[in-house]
Amino acid sequence: MNFHVMTLFPGMITNAMGESITGRAIKAGHINVNAVNIRDFAGNKNNNVDDYPYGGGAGMVIQAEPVYLCYRHICENIQKRKQCQETTGISGSIYKNIEVTPGVRVIYLTPQGKTFNQELACEYATEEDLVFLCGHYEGIDERVTEEIVTDYVSIGDYVLTGGELPALVMMDAISRFVPGVLNNCISARTESFSGNLLEYPQYTRPAAWRGKEVPPILLSGNHKKLAEWYRKQSVIRTALMRPDLLEGAELTEEEKELAGKVAGYGK
Ligand code: ADE
Repeated sequence: MNFHVMTLFPGMITNAMGESITGRAIKAGHINVNAVNIRDFAGNKNNNVDDYPYGGGAGMVIQAEPVYLCYRHICENIQKRKQCQETTGISGSIYKNIEVTPGVRVIYLTPQGKTFNQELACEYATEEDLVFLCGHYEGIDERVTEEIVTDYVSIGDYVLTGGELPALVMMDAISRFVPGVLNNCISARTESFSGNLLEYPQYTRPAAWRGKEVPPILLSGNHKKLAEWYRKQSVIRTALMRPDLLEGAELTEEEKELAGKVAGYGK
């Protein structure tokens, strides 16, 4: 997976992605992060990329041309890599004499977009390249977003100072679905939101902590009973904490009854 990020603050992206699990995934070559500074395409000696909005109003707007040139630069790099893969016989296809890369998804982080979730993360993880466009100030000239953006995505109903944190949130969630990134390949599938159920509670040693015992089933070693217990706990937890998710979950009649009892109890 190759993440390309158009940003005014590339350090935010490389520093955060270089840590922890994503940092390890970069070192291992499972993911690649290419943060490109929009300012490098300003084309003026002060490296200014913003201007006053037409029609007046507060704040500044990022200009179309530096964003477009930044995008074209990224496309050229993607194409060069694909050409290289083609000639070395690894994979990919050759694009000739074109300025943009067809099929590459360009995600603009904006509170106006559709809300990001686990399903979208899983879908994006199947792409070879993803381009993120991080806005700042009052936004970006509409003409360039119309031209290059394929997906408008928000990470929630609140307004942040820029698109870098949302891009980081998305790259983190997407990376977890890229093969090799998580050591434990089961965890991305059994955790919260898979099958529209939340994850069951977890415990570790000691078996008794300040008088609180772990559920005895966990010490039983009976794998079939344990799997049943995990499932039941997921249903109970979802009914308690996120009953809205249950509509999209596939439940047996018995589980529906259990969820109904738990959700009813919470009201
Ligand atoms: N930019 C500012 N706020 C945002 C949000 N909530 N989601 C995505 N991009 C944003």
